[in-house]
Amino acid sequence: MLDEKAKKTILRKIPHGLYICGVKDGEEINGFTASWVMQTSFQPPLIINCVRQDSGSHEMIKNSGVFALSFLDSEQKDVAAQFFKPQRRVGNKLADVEFYSGEETGCPIIKDTLGYVECQVVESVMKGDHTIFVAEVIGAGVHREGSALLLETTGWQYGG
Ligand SMILES: Cc1cc2nc3c(=O)[nH]c(=O)nc-3n(C[C@H](O)[C@H](O)[C@H](O)COP(=O)(O)O)c2cc1C
Repeated sequence: MLDEKAKKTILRKIPHGLYICGVKDGEEINGFTASWVMQTSFQPPLIINCVRQDSGSHEMIKNSGVFALSFLDSEQKDVAAQFFKPQRRVGNKLADVEFYSGEETGCPIIKDTLGYVECQVVESVMKGDHTIFVAEVIGAGVHREGSALLLETTGWQYGG
């Protein structure tokens, strides 16, 4: 039988970065705090982004097939906190941050971050409560130097 406590403790040791995933669907835009992200291919450049199926952004990515990840720096826990509540509850999360639309996808990119990738979904795997969006990196940019914000340093948990 699965040891629930051990599963939670050990899975929470998987290291994660923190990102703002910018999404769009037609004229609508949104963003959410994401952590279950990793690179999965050099050529073509692929990443996976695992998105919870009950979020507003999930529907938007499913419809548009695009998203952009803005990479937070180690001092930007406050920005991550601005984006982890659902839009349907808190309204426009992008109202108080400077952002611009990505050239390739039109998805919102947060200006004051380390940089970004713009992604086009090429496959999706709907298993469990998150969908794994496999996406090709079709645009990228560096805003500034710095080290990435790591989930571990925030004291928050997402996983287990
Ligand atoms: C530390 C942290 C990490 C998170 N990582 C993810 C993630 O990898 N994927 C995801 O779908 N949601 C993740 N979330 C949850 C979303 O940020 C949350 O569901 C958000 O409210 C979705 O917003 P939306 O409904 O406006 O799209 C995370 C939340 C926190 C606090």
